[in-house]
Amino acid sequence: MLTSIKQVSSHVGESVKLGAWLYNKRSSGKIQFLQLRDGTGYIQGVLLKKQVSPEVWEQASKLTQESSLYVEGTIRADDRAPSGYEMDVTGLEVIQQADEYPISLKEHGVEFLMDHRHLWIRSRRQSAILRVRAAIIHAVQDWLNKAGFTQVDPPVLTPSSCEGTTNLFHTKYFDEDAYLTQSGQLYMEAAALALGRAYSFGPTFRAEKSKTRRHLIEFWMIEPEMAFVNHEESLRIQEEMLSHVVQHVLAECRSELEVLERDISFLEKVKAPFPRISYDEAVELLNREGMAFTWGDDFGAPHETKIAESFDRPVFITNYPTEIKAFYMKPDPERPEVALCADLIAPEGYGEIIGGSQRIDDPALLEQRFEEHQLPKEDYAWYLDLRKYGTVPHSGFGLGLERTVAWICGLDHVRETIPFPRMLNRLYP
Ligand code: 4AD
Ligand code: MG
Repeated sequence: MLTSIKQVSSHVGESVKLGAWLYNKRSSGKIQFLQLRDGTGYIQGVLLKKQVSPEVWEQASKLTQESSLYVEGTIRADDRAPSGYEMDVTGLEVIQQADEYPISLKEHGVEFLMDHRHLWIRSRRQSAILRVRAAIIHAVQDWLNKAGFTQVDPPVLTPSSCEGTTNLFHTKYFDEDAYLTQSGQLYMEAAALALGRAYSFGPTFRAEKSKTRRHLIEFWMIEPEMAFVNHEESLRIQEEMLSHVVQHVLAECRSELEVLERDISFLEKVKAPFPRISYDEAVELLNREGMAFTWGDDFGAPHETKIAESFDRPVFITNYPTEIKAFYMKPDPERPEVALCADLIAPEGYGEIIGGSQRIDDPALLEQRFEEHQLPKEDYAWYLDLRKYGTVPHSGFGLGLERTVAWICGLDHVRETIPFPRMLNRLYP
């Protein structure tokens, strides 16, 4: 068995064998420094000409960037090394001498890097992001599992829309029409009425012609849905869940956040409860701050950023006009022109990361909404059934994974938050 770079600390003074790639190389006549990476970490291998065979010396001097190799040597603790350890190389076996690597260590343009995304993810920064992404997924699922949620997997191919018909991805399903799911929510409502608390975690699709820092065509969502939970109770679940996620990443991903040069002072403040501001108050705030805004319009990115600036933690904007929100949201019984809903806006200009609401539980009102939104009743018959057979108050929300990763990692654009982004003009690689 090979040793991994992550494990070298427990092998000081011992001879070990690593499988690795050459990240970078330096030499000065009688000594060569090989910067090695193996996916678990980085270590410098040191070769002294007088201590290795001429063949090993020769092979090492020819190694190109990203060549793959097995390296043997003795692990030495070294305070000057970034990882705290170095390897005195005694032998190496080249698996493949790599062709000239397109991503040299100089700066490259974004489109070039995106075209080479399959290689770019090997970089220190990109692999740190992927690790943080995985830690976020782990933390969310762990929190939900412990809070009594059961993971349920909704279908990806669906007969109907959840979030409006303007950005559906159409495909043929033999002789029928089908769409790639925009959200697992409707199915999670069925799951919540079966299991009490359920959540999905999967890819969702929006054929959105938006080319912004926040939009992907294919993105991943975590969608919890809870029976017998009202809007206000749902907000408490959201803030507890997200606080846990952020604190988990701070505890487990320090070195990744350092690679990303993330200022963690904002993240340290992310603890429940989060502030809440109503849509009405947000409209007033915008007008007061000199951003003319009419009640009834939807917020764009600049509005969300402006509102978030008044808070040092994520903020819930609650009770949006019913008109501008999805068909399934329950109107406030006291004031039906607004819905029992909230968007959670991340600080530092990262925008909406969660959308959620209490759901309509009355079958007659739901049927009325199908008509108002011109949704074909027959495709939603099963969804209406959920209100006919033991309807209950219930709520749920969707956390957008990529926007959460962008915020926690402090990235300019969501394209770096997912291994292989699907964007308006990008389906490759
Ligand atoms: O606000 P959205 O559209 O809500 C829903 O889909 C609900 N059905 C969720 C639910 O209640 N179960 O999307 C939820 C979140 C947004 O807050 C945002 O973080 C993310 O998904 N999101 C996107 N992320 C990247 N690219 C896009 N095009 C996104 N659209 C939404
Ligand atoms: Mg939304």
